[in-house]
Order: sequence, then C-alpha cells, then structure tokens
Amino acid sequence: MIQSNASPNMDQRPVEQGADEEERTFEAGLRPKSLEDFVGQEDLKAGLRIFIEAAKTRNEPMEHILLYGNPGLGKTTLAHIIAGETGSKLRITSGPALERVGDLAAILSNLQFGDVLFIDEIHRMNRSIEEVLYPAMEDYALDLVVGKGPSARTLRLGLEKFTIIGATTRLSLLSSPLRDRFGAVHHLNFYNEDEIGKIVNRSAGILNLKTTPSVCATIASRSRRTPRIANRLLKRVRDFAQVKHGGDLNPEIANAALDMLAVDSLGLDATDRTLLETLITKFNGGPVGLSTLAAATQEEMETIEEIYEPFLLQLGFLERTPRGRIATNRAYEHLNIKKNLL
Ligand SMILES: Nc1ncnc2c1ncn2[C@@H]1O[C@H](COP(=O)(O)OP(=O)(O)OP(=O)(O)O)[C@@H](O)[C@H]1O
Ligand SMILES: [Mg+2]
Repeated sequence: MIQSNASPNMDQRPVEQGADEEERTFEAGLRPKSLEDFVGQEDLKAGLRIFIEAAKTRNEPMEHILLYGNPGLGKTTLAHIIAGETGSKLRITSGPALERVGDLAAILSNLQFGDVLFIDEIHRMNRSIEEVLYPAMEDYALDLVVGKGPSARTLRLGLEKFTIIGATTRLSLLSSPLRDRFGAVHHLNFYNEDEIGKIVNRSAGILNLKTTPSVCATIASRSRRTPRIANRLLKRVRDFAQVKHGGDLNPEIANAALDMLAVDSLGLDATDRTLLETLITKFNGGPVGLSTLAAATQEEMETIEEIYEPFLLQLGFLERTPRGRIATNRAYEHLNIKKNLL
C-alpha cells in the first residue's frame, strides 16, 4: 500500500476517534453554533429544547446535564450550543485539570447566576474533588473545612445558581452519587450515513470546497458514523485533491484519497482488519479470550476493548460472548474469507 504524502500527520490512524490539539483547533472552526445547525441526534435535541425552554420560562438556570457517548460524536459541541441558546456564559474545565479541591472551589465561587460550567472527562475527577460537587450541585453551596484536628469545623458558603454540563465517554466509571445529581442524562448515538453526509456537506461549505452529494456520500460511508472522522477524512481528501488534481473533486478522486489512507469501504483501517483476520485465521473465528487475542495481535487489551471493538460490534462483525470474541459471518464476507476453507 502506498502511503499518502498529502497528510501532515502520519502518526495518527485516519479513523482514530480522539483528537490532538491541532485537530481540535481545526474542529472549532467547523462547530455548529445552534441546535438548528447540529445535525442528527433528533431525540436528544427535542429533549434539550424542552429543557432549555422550561428554564427560560421560569427564569431559572437549567438543571445539570450529563452527556455521554463515544469520542467525536459532539459532546463538547453541544455544551457550547446549550450555553449559547440560553445566553449563558460558558466556563470550561475537565476532570484531569482539577488537581486540588481548591481548584474546583475557586471556579465554583466565581460563577455568576446562570453560568454554565462544562466539565469534560468528568469520570476522571478525583473522588475528594467530586465530593465538593455534591452540595454545589444540589444546594448551590460550598462546604469548606476550616482548621485542623478537633477544632476543625465546616463552613457553608452560598453559591450563585448555575448549571453543570458534564461530558464522559465512560458512563460506567461515574459514581452513582454524582450521576444522580444530573437532572438529565443524554446519550449520543453513532450517526447514520445520511446525517454524516450532511455534516460533510456543511463542513465542505465552511472550508470553501466544492463537493457533490456523491462525494459527500463517499466520504460518509467510510467515516465510522462519527462526525470527527468525517471532518478529518474530508480534510485529507481536500489535501489530496489539491496536491494531485489541482483541486478537482469527484467520487473517484475521493475514493483514491481514501484508498491511500488504507480506510476501506466501511471505514475499517489496517488495524481493524488485522484484528479480524487474526481472529479468523489463527483462532478459526473464535471464541477466543481477549488476552489471547491481544497477545496474538500485539495490542493492549484495553486498546482492543475501548478503541477497536466498539465499531466492529456496531457493524456486527464481532460478538462478545462469555467464552470470548467471535467473528461473525459478516466479517468473513467483508474480508472475503470463505468460512469452510480454513
Ligand atoms: N451533530 C453534529 N453536526 C455537525 N458537526 C458535528 C456534530 N457533532 C460533532 N460535530 C463535529 O465533530 C467534531 C467533534 O465534535 P466534539 O468535539 O463535540 O466531540 P466530543 O464528543 O466532544 O469528542 P471527545 O469525546 O473527544 O471530547 C467537531 O468539529 C464538531 O463540530
Ligand atoms: Mg469533547
């Protein structure tokens, strides 16, 4: 396989779900600013509209909102939109950025009435810091411990009413006391191909790139139903078209660019295919335990479980059973391997 020289960042998997700093800057320019512009997730948007309207009617800050879903599906984007739609000021922090109880106390005590505090990766918040959030979310109060030893006492400080929007990719890692303090918990699903096509079309417009519906559909079909990956592939296709074809873009050129990135017709890359091929050829399609599969593919167990498997499960190429992983008939078909010849 020839490697593309049109892409500046060769270390990254083209279908990686996460994003580095450079990519987040690129993404910020593509971010929809209103619920109207936010493509898909219709049920979630309908729920949010009611939530926002109700708060506006009561002239009260919204209840706390928890957004969860895979990387790149739009959690951060939605937090910005919600703050925008309610005319609130958005303050941003994240679980890992809050190192001491004082860090969070300082942020909370500076919030004004109606502000929105976005806490990204909220599952990575330290437990002692998390406990500061409980009274803050429930009673808009900060309990400070003053003094040490037997003379220590608790001082309660009142806070302005505010809204927390938490985001997480791992709902199961959130403690139940924290989870229970959110008035609404929303799940972001993978998008369908039409929706991803619309996102590609919208982003192409912002990037001043002329596309056709079939170019957008070509990119959408390989984007793993994830907006972040769609935007990234669009950028790579644009670079390829500029370097090799003077900027002309049609489905053949888009396909050639994506072939060069080794992203196949369903969005699988070389690593996904190696994983499936190993499962099929070395273990006769399974069932095989995760640790054995990890050893055979020289990948970490966590990486397989959290990064590669979710999409393969989505496609119905893989099943997780109590006895181990199994490759389905669809996986054999996609890889063009005949089942009984092995
Ligand atoms: N529904 C959507 N419509 C249009 N663009 C979207 C949509 N959802 C996400 N995007 C775009 O995809 C990119 C990634 O979205 P975002 O940063 O909000 O994902 P995230 O869920 O916060 O990911 P992470 O878990 O890595 O923080 C952004 O450029 C964003 O504009
Ligand atoms: Mg985010």
